[in-house]
Amino acid sequence: MSYGFSGKFELIVKDILLKLYSLHFVRETLLQYSFQNLKGHRRMLSDKTRVHKFKKAIMKTVRKYDTVLDVGTGTGILAFFAANMGAKKIYAVDYSKIIHLAQEIATKNNFNNITFIRANLNRIKIPKVDCIISELIGGSVVDEGIIDKMRFARKFLKNDGKMIPKKIEIMFSPAESNEFDFFWQKRYGIDFSPFHRKLSEKTYPIQITNRTEFLSNDKLVYSLNFYSLPKIIFVEKTFKITKNGYLNCFCAYFKIYLTDTIQINSLDNNPEWKSFILPVKEALKVKKGDLVKLKVWTAKNNTEWKWDYELLS
Ligand SMILES: C[S@@+](CC[C@H](N)C(=O)[O-])C[C@H]1O[C@@H](n2cnc3c(N)ncnc32)[C@H](O)[C@@H]1O
Repeated sequence: MSYGFSGKFELIVKDILLKLYSLHFVRETLLQYSFQNLKGHRRMLSDKTRVHKFKKAIMKTVRKYDTVLDVGTGTGILAFFAANMGAKKIYAVDYSKIIHLAQEIATKNNFNNITFIRANLNRIKIPKVDCIISELIGGSVVDEGIIDKMRFARKFLKNDGKMIPKKIEIMFSPAESNEFDFFWQKRYGIDFSPFHRKLSEKTYPIQITNRTEFLSNDKLVYSLNFYSLPKIIFVEKTFKITKNGYLNCFCAYFKIYLTDTIQINSLDNNPEWKSFILPVKEALKVKKGDLVKLKVWTAKNNTEWKWDYELLS
């Protein structure tokens, strides 16, 4: 079959565009444009748990006369909460056009101590602040680039400054999940393993229910501390299997600590954050007492998870 010159040319151009997508700059540009869309902001503003918990955390943390940096202000909601607490000056930064709407909302509500800056965070110049607020938490925690962005933002924090959130604990555990359509077994009598191998390169969001069977009582807990962010995450752990089964993924879930006492847990039925799984290339038949080693690290400017695993016994 022939597609003709123009058809082939179109496919080549599309392949190039897809390759470009793997470049950090291109992905960031797409993220910037996606945040222009009101749909995502509507969803985030409608997530009452998310908004109320951030509001409570801001009420607990921001003091009268504080200076505040709101990284990725979006519709301005977190900056407005800080203004209500009597902050002296708020720098609200966003690279997306949504910031113009935030500005309009500020005018409508007489918030006149907020400076809106439409720019990439890594281009701004502001004085050091008492408090940094941000919500750049992706579905797999890292996919919106929170690590590198917050490491950069941290430069603007005074030595005794405060951050919201202050840390995120990420838990990984070996599991046998029915939530995800695994192709590691024959499907329709056909070996689909090449398809599965490709599928197992990415993480997938899921809502952990009791259909997800954890195969170990152990957890790998990584604590992402916003006061001292790593260059990359690299962790490993050996798990003791507590029941027989097929290990077809590692389940990950996380707890966002907005303050020591105000938390959001991705295991609770949140509209914004679910859990996610790291599928394995080959499902492992495991039995009680087996030892399984997991290595997890971040790649692509800390926006993706990579992992490897091994049955030790
Ligand atoms: C998840 S939204 C949160 C919006 C708002 N703070 C809220 O809680 O509803 C993240 C926002 O950060 C902005 N953002 C992400 N990376 C940024 C960067 N490097 N520089 C400036 N803004 C950024 C996006 O455009 C988006 O509006």
